[in-house]
Amino acid sequence: MLTSSSPLLEGQNASNQLSQRSFAAPRNKSYSLSRTNWSWTSVASTIINTTTILALLYGVGICVSTIKGTLMPSNEYCLHSVSVSYNYITFAGDGYGTYNGPKCLNPLRTISTYASGKTFCTEKEIQVGFDKIRKECNNEDLEFLDWQELVANVTEGDIAGMRVVEFDELPTGMNITEPVRLSRSFLDRVGNTLMAWEYEMNWHHQSGLALYGFWGLILGIATLCNVLKTPSTSSESTSQFTQSTWRWIQVNLIIPPAFGSHHQRLLFWCTVPTRMETVVVATFYLLTTYLSVSHYRLIFNNIYWDDKSQQLWRYVADRTGIMAYATLPLIWIFAGRNNVFMWATGLSYQAFNIYHRHIARAGTILAIVHSVVYTYLFVEFEGWSMFAREFTQLWLLLGVMATITMSLLLLFSVSWLRIKFYEIFLVLHIALSVVTLVGCFLHTSIFNARYDAYLWPIVVVWILDRGLRLLRLICCNLQVRFSKKVISRTYTIASYSKESDVIRLDVRTDSFLATPAAGQFYYLYQPTTWQGYENHPFTLGAWSSSSIGSDEAGSSLLRSTGTHDDFDEEDGAFSASKRQSHGQSLTFWIRPYDGWTKRLRDSCLASPTHNTSPTILLEGPYGHHCPIATFDSVLLIAGGTGIASAVPYILEHIALSRSEKTATTQMHLLWTARQASFIHQVFARELRDVPHRDDFSTDLFFTRQDDSHKDDEEEHDVALRTEIQQGRPDIAAAISKAAMKAEMMGQRVAVLVCGPPAMADEARIAVHGVMKMGCFEIEYFEESFGW
Ligand SMILES: Cc1cc2nc3c(=O)[nH]c(=O)nc-3n(C[C@H](O)[C@H](O)[C@H](O)COP(=O)(O)OP(=O)(O)OC[C@H]3O[C@@H](n4cnc5c(N)ncnc54)[C@H](O)[C@@H]3O)c2cc1C
Ligand SMILES: NC(=O)c1ccc[n+]([C@@H]2O[C@H](COP(=O)([O-])OP(=O)(O)OC[C@H]3O[C@@H](n4cnc5c(N)ncnc54)[C@H](OP(=O)(O)O)[C@@H]3O)[C@@H](O)[C@H]2O)c1
Repeated sequence: MLTSSSPLLEGQNASNQLSQRSFAAPRNKSYSLSRTNWSWTSVASTIINTTTILALLYGVGICVSTIKGTLMPSNEYCLHSVSVSYNYITFAGDGYGTYNGPKCLNPLRTISTYASGKTFCTEKEIQVGFDKIRKECNNEDLEFLDWQELVANVTEGDIAGMRVVEFDELPTGMNITEPVRLSRSFLDRVGNTLMAWEYEMNWHHQSGLALYGFWGLILGIATLCNVLKTPSTSSESTSQFTQSTWRWIQVNLIIPPAFGSHHQRLLFWCTVPTRMETVVVATFYLLTTYLSVSHYRLIFNNIYWDDKSQQLWRYVADRTGIMAYATLPLIWIFAGRNNVFMWATGLSYQAFNIYHRHIARAGTILAIVHSVVYTYLFVEFEGWSMFAREFTQLWLLLGVMATITMSLLLLFSVSWLRIKFYEIFLVLHIALSVVTLVGCFLHTSIFNARYDAYLWPIVVVWILDRGLRLLRLICCNLQVRFSKKVISRTYTIASYSKESDVIRLDVRTDSFLATPAAGQFYYLYQPTTWQGYENHPFTLGAWSSSSIGSDEAGSSLLRSTGTHDDFDEEDGAFSASKRQSHGQSLTFWIRPYDGWTKRLRDSCLASPTHNTSPTILLEGPYGHHCPIATFDSVLLIAGGTGIASAVPYILEHIALSRSEKTATTQMHLLWTARQASFIHQVFARELRDVPHRDDFSTDLFFTRQDDSHKDDEEEHDVALRTEIQQGRPDIAAAISKAAMKAEMMGQRVAVLVCGPPAMADEARIAVHGVMKMGCFEIEYFEESFGW
């Protein structure tokens, strides 16, 4: 029922007017409003997050230097090439039987190595080269002959008189009884082969490190933008150029989806990222492809592989294998719940989730190429018999298994499974990830832990994430008060309203960590059920300080921070008890779906009052705070339980305006719910004071008729001071109107949306539309969740 006085109807023509109007140049405004919600918990979180980032960077430094340490320094090349050349000649005497034995234990070979070293290398290179051989021998528990003592009596003349041999001149296995020197061409052939090998090894690792460089750059730029756009740092002095560049980026890259109008909604079961995310992902794929196909040095007379195509396939196999390893830490870091980069960059969980998935896809493709090419190499160049023999080795089989589990991870991550059977997806995802990681460790264990530098960061990140989850869980739910000898835990009341089809959860906690603020969400656990491991995110919708019994010192060691007796069933909230101790009652609105939420609803329905007191544990708080108090006007758009995101900002606005700490002079709520009774319930409690405010206006809609609304429609609407209209609102028109009004009044407007995917997509496209028409004083915040 849109009435002629409805502010929305005024907005119907707004987009037309917008396009006809020529906007004045956007103003440079200073928003020096200091952040108002600095608490000691936010200071502590800043310190912990910064320390974690620095520790991660330090860890990356260690890993990089470990990886670089596996590459050969240039002054080791010469004698190393000489030494390797002698692998193709067999001397009489000790040492033969093991790979490293001859170079460590055979005197003739050591003298020959020295003689060729004297011919082709510098004194320094000889010294460094023999030191390297000594280390290799020690690593294999082989004694290394004292080469200096052996060659003490070898003169220049002796060296000049030694026989000079060509490659393949002396067949391997023929016992040579005198020291021999290498010809120049022999050494060049071996040297070139080794140089090509080292060059490739270098590029394999550099390619992996380049991927880190790429993501480091992306995260660095995002962090910088996040810091620069905080209200206290943006100022009049920001140059026109910077402002117009930032606007261009917003209009063309940050706001719009890659194509069409889908972003929160899936398109053919696929997520459509924003243009910026698409650019980042596309650049990542291009870089990965370039690094996989470039820098291959194929040479004639390679002593390992005659055939150039064999060289190429071997290098491709190694490159893709090492790059696949390099992607693994990124995949894990970007998937973490306690991802410090989310805090530093301000990027959403959804953005990191998109990057996580694309890096995982690239990593899996690389692993598949690695496995397929190695298999091809065995079959094509060594034959089926060799293939059958090699593929009985455990390390090889585990590598194949890791590739298979990575592929299965991709397969079982399809959005259909994530949406329909989230818990199955999650269990499979974690189990297959563990198998992949263990498989990788064992696959490369034969290389003296050389590749473990790519894998240990995963273990560290995973333990850190799980550890922090546990810590949050403990801190949120168990409070120890030594002075009173009391351990208290959270206490919860769940009440289901059939009319609104919403479960209201009031969780009472004493935790210092549960400092409520707008933008927060918690993961909720119900540990006393069969599926107690499940946890689901819910937005903190409202809170109130509550009093709890506390003067019963020593009454019980373990008690709840509230009891059912404290719960006012009529008011549906905890009431202050006569005994005073400060705690918080946190409110969540939960829409029942098919899993845990349905079971919670059923347990409410099992009670005659539709109230129950389940054991609920909180893990949090997570989320980020949108700085909407720095905007002159705010348009909040909520759909259904999405109101949980809007209410805290409304309450925050009321609190801030009392102390004149907000720039916001006008706040408008556009809320549509299926049932009008949900709207009435929230306006009867959390928002009861709001309809009387001059700086607050509402447009309320319901889309499904419920009997309770019909009965006392008028009484309710009077209390609300506005009519609840039936039908969906025109979101685009509301946004155009807000944008135009702000533009005309020279104000900045924030649009915050939380609701079903279709609603969020409509709002995004509308904001993009007004921005394209030149209205830049609008900023878009989205709290909706999409896969
Ligand atoms: C940050 C955030 C805040 C949210 N806040 C609220 C809120 O305030 N009120 C509300 O009603 N809903 C909220 N949701 C949605 C809520 O988490 C899901 O509806 C809930 O997890 C469904 O649980 P279920 O077992 O009944 O789901 P199912 O019936 O099994 O699945 C329903 C949908 O929820 C998704 N889902 C299930 N479990 C999870 C999970 N652990 N994490 C992410 N998605 C999941 C499934 O993929 C599916 O799309 C929020 C989601 C996120 C990400
Ligand atoms: N922080 C978060 O991420 C967070 C917090 C809370 C909720 N959520 C999400 O928000 C969504 C809301 O859940 P819900 O089940 O409570 O909502 P819902 O009942 O499905 O929908 C709420 C209302 O929005 C209307 N609507 C849907 N699309 C619209 C559009 N394009 N334009 C105008 N109105 C539209 C619906 O109308 P119809 O009846 O006509 O469809 C309905 O009245 C869920 O996706 C939930 O996961 C996210």
